[in-house]
Formats: sequence, structure tokens, C-alpha cells
Amino acid sequence: MIRTKLLGLGSYVPDRVVTNDDLRFLNDQHIRQEQPVIETNDQWIQQRTGIRSRRYVPADGSVNTSDLALAAAQRALDDAGAKAEDIDCIILGTLSPDMHFPGTAVFLQKKLGISGRNCACFDIRQQCSAFVYALQMADAFIRAGTYRRILLVGAELHSHSMDFSTRGRDVVVLFGDGAGAMLLGPTETEDEREGVLYTAAYADGSGAMDLYLHIFNIAHRPYIDYNALDREQNQVIFPQMDGKRVFLHAVRGMVMAAHAALAKTNMTWDDIQWFVPHQANLRINEKVVEVAKIPPEKVLNTIEWYGNTTAATIPLTIDYWRQQGKVKKGDRVLSAVFGSGYTWGAAIFQV
Ligand code: COA
Repeated sequence: MIRTKLLGLGSYVPDRVVTNDDLRFLNDQHIRQEQPVIETNDQWIQQRTGIRSRRYVPADGSVNTSDLALAAAQRALDDAGAKAEDIDCIILGTLSPDMHFPGTAVFLQKKLGISGRNCACFDIRQQCSAFVYALQMADAFIRAGTYRRILLVGAELHSHSMDFSTRGRDVVVLFGDGAGAMLLGPTETEDEREGVLYTAAYADGSGAMDLYLHIFNIAHRPYIDYNALDREQNQVIFPQMDGKRVFLHAVRGMVMAAHAALAKTNMTWDDIQWFVPHQANLRINEKVVEVAKIPPEKVLNTIEWYGNTTAATIPLTIDYWRQQGKVKKGDRVLSAVFGSGYTWGAAIFQV
């Protein structure tokens, strides 16, 4: 039987560390001002979210989402001992693409030096749930024999597109820049517990307007009619969120998805080494762990240092803890994710 195997893992975060206190003083060019720009504070952010800092790319436009994706992808390729030429499919999850179209996967393909080769490129738009959705797609492609080397990447560049003012403080404190990547391929095995064991993806469009970014309304004429320099008028260009509703649905969705994953695979927490939840808010993850009765020593988080890197959080977190020596090759991970849409899901796989 053909199963999907993780061949390589890599991640990348930019060098600039922005602490909660730094953030208060940054303007939208990320330049420190003398007086606070955003009414918030370290204590509020840590208490409500568990976040202490996040990483930002330079504010000069020199780094794009596809550059973050490239750095993570190169590390995943190195980890697998593979070359970019081996890749025959890229699946890239992001809500912060290089541009509206074409998708970011083709820019990554070009930067990997494999443009024009026989390599399909997909962008997927499942926000914080992108990893599980992408893994489900990759797993199906590999088991069907459609592709043999799939590069799965989650990459986000949030720091350029948030509202650096008190109005945007509920969102701006949460998000950071970063990328994570996996190289996946087939393995022949009779062991049902090897490789990618399980994926499930869910959605509920009735929650779509609880976390969204408009930018433009395609039905409107003209479809862009705002003045980006007018702070009062330009709300459409910044993410909007009903944090309380997102919080509740995230807990519910991730608990349900984690329970279903264990039930459908006839596994218990004894069979799983690590629970790696999406990194949106430490309080969300603590609630999920409490309600789903997950052994706390099996939980891996990185939100404290990286904030929410949306599509990147799962491979980034696994790679971080692998570098710390906790996660080992062959360990079994259960991931649960939740994001804008609403979309959510879970997966069980071996590192
Ligand atoms: N600093 C200081 N005060 C802030 C703030 C900030 N960064 N953001 C909001 N506040 C204020 C609000 O304006 C409000 O003030 P008011 O009482 O004077 O109106 C007060 O804090 C409470 O706001 P509330 O929205 O009730 O806080 P909360 O406890 O729900 O926490 C979030 C806000 C955003 C941290 C929380 O709702 C959350 O994390 N939700 C999930 C978001 C998420 O995970 N999104 C990504 C999903 S993948």
C-alpha cells in the first residue's frame, strides 16, 4: 500500500524581533516613534494571548511572502537530501500573497529555479487551516500516484498589511511573519500507522465575516474606491475580526476535530507523542487542551515568540521543537487547526 511520508521539514522566521513593548511605538512603516502609537501594553497582550514577541520582515518591501516560503522550502529540501528539481508539485497556503494574482506558488517555483519544469503549482486560501487542507490534498495526490514529490509550504507576511493604530490593536498584536515547509513523497508499506495516517477538513461559511480582509469588493464599481492615506476611510484594507466569536468557535472546532481524529483512527493519546495546535492564541490552546483532556506535557506551542503566522504555524512549531531536541524523527503528531472562513481540521502524521 502506498502511503504519504514526510521526507523533509524546514522553517524560517525573519531576524527582526518585535516585542509587545516595541509594537506600541511602531508606526505603519515599522519605525519607532517617541510616543506610543497603539494603546496597548505587554501585560494585556500576554494575559489575553500568551504572546511576548513576533518577527517582522524589513519594512522596505525587499522581502515578499515567496521569499519567506523559499527560505523554509530550501531548509526542507536540505533536510530531505533532495533537490528543487525533484519537486513535481507545490501547494502553498497563504492569506498574504505576493500579489492578488497569480498565486504565490508560481513565484516560489521561479525562485526555486524550477520554472517551466513539470511542476504543478497550487495556492490555497484556507488561512490558519491551510496546513491541514494542504496535507489532505498532498496525501490524496501522492496515494493516487499523481505526484511523487510535493512541496507543502505555509508562508505569511502579515506585518505589511495591519492597522498600526489603536483601532487595529485587537489584530495587530496577534500576527507575525514566518514560513514552514514539508517535502512529502510516497512510501510502500503495510503498516497502517506509518506516514500520514489521517486528515479531515471542515468549513462553515456562516462565520466568514467574523475574520476577513476586504481590500476590494469585486461587485462594486469602481471596485477600489478608498483613499489608503485616509485612516478613517481605509478600513477595507485592514483585517477585521470579531475576536470573541473566533475564540469560541476555534475552541469548539479544534476540540471536535481532535476527538474525531482519535476516534476515526482508533487511537488514544498513548499512541500520539505530540499535540501541535494552530498558534492563534495561547488561551485558545489551553482551553482546547483542558476540554479535550490532552496530556499537557504533549502540547507544543511557539506563539510566545512568533505570534500567529497563520498558514505557517504547524510546520514552524514542529521544526522549532525538533531543533530544541524534543521532536524526533518518527514521532506521531496530532495537529488541530482553525481559521478564517471558518475553516478547521485535524491531521495525524509521523514526523
Ligand atoms: N490592547 C489593549 N486593549 C485591547 C487590545 C489590545 N491589543 N485589544 C482589544 N482591547 C480592548 C478592547 O478594546 C476592549 O476594550 P473596552 O472594554 O474598553 O471596549 C477590551 O480590551 C476587551 O476586548 P475584548 O475583545 O473583549 O477582549 P478579549 O478578551 O476577547 O481579547 C482577543 C481579544 C483578540 C485577544 C481575543 O478575543 C482573541 O484572541 N480571539 C481570537 C482571535 C484569533 O485567534 N484570531 C485568529 C484566528 S485563527
